[in-house]
Amino acid sequence: MTTSFRPGLKGSEITPKAAYMNRRQIMAGAGALLAAGTIGGRAEAKLTTVPSKYSTDTKPNTLDDITHYNNFYEFGLDKTDPARFAGKLTVDPWSIKVDGLVDNPGSYALGDILKGVTLEERIYRHRCVEGWSMVIPWDGFPLKTVLDRAGVQPSAKYIAFETVMRPEEMPGQRSNNVLVWPYVEGLRLDEAMHPLTILATGIYGEPMPTQDGAPIRLVVPWKYGFKSIKSIVRISAVADQPPTSWNREAANEYGFYSNVNPHVDHPRWSQASERRIGGGLFAPRIDTKMFNGYSDEVASLYTGMDLRKFF
Ligand code: MTE
Repeated sequence: MTTSFRPGLKGSEITPKAAYMNRRQIMAGAGALLAAGTIGGRAEAKLTTVPSKYSTDTKPNTLDDITHYNNFYEFGLDKTDPARFAGKLTVDPWSIKVDGLVDNPGSYALGDILKGVTLEERIYRHRCVEGWSMVIPWDGFPLKTVLDRAGVQPSAKYIAFETVMRPEEMPGQRSNNVLVWPYVEGLRLDEAMHPLTILATGIYGEPMPTQDGAPIRLVVPWKYGFKSIKSIVRISAVADQPPTSWNREAANEYGFYSNVNPHVDHPRWSQASERRIGGGLFAPRIDTKMFNGYSDEVASLYTGMDLRKFF
């Protein structure tokens, strides 16, 4: 995010999902799936999901957009690096350590975490702090489900998250020191428990593409995208506000809260509008909405807070 804006994808790069999936199957047959950096060797089982009242009816971006314009610094700084290199990440088996101020700490296999969980399709607006946005049909479930099973103790006030540390599979963890690894993030407990906050395991009914944070990532749609940490291996309930990667890097540019807010500019650019990926080079920028358009659901979490101060 220290880099400047990049031009949008060309119309010719945008393929509808059907064509994309077809191409993926052909590539799988040719044994090129890993090289293409798509889904990291997992079975392509179709996920069963139910619709959600929280979905927007705005048309989602194509899977091609969603998987070829990414921020995942563990794989490089360029938007195309994750698609090129993320296939190397082993995402099966996967487990998540749940610890800190909880009644049931432990290391839980992803399969066990997903047992009895109903996956919902959540079509959310996704707004990056860099000034671009997409609409993404995530498949996931409320983070609250995991926290309730863990039994968060009353002394816990925040939830901290950590991405996998795997320098042998993540070239960015070896070669770029823009951030201190592993990537870490955090939410206030009430934000973490909010029904809009999900753990996502898929997109478009398919297992999470590796470049988007396989096998499981956080999605917090009213905050800038960097809060939505990818490839999570640890969830901790803690008493104090935890350190977060981009805030640690530049506290004056990336706040702990980082709620989408068109009235508080980034020190180096305006946040009043955004460029919707996939709209073509000449598409007009669109106005950014307070809380990314989720004010009705989340504004009450911040009653009494000066949202210019707690950015
Ligand atoms: N999580 C990790 N571990 N590493 C990252 O570099 N980038 C963040 C966030 N989560 C990032 C991350 C940023 S800046 C954004 S905008 C979103 O992931 C991008 O998600 P997407 O690539 O699926 O659109």
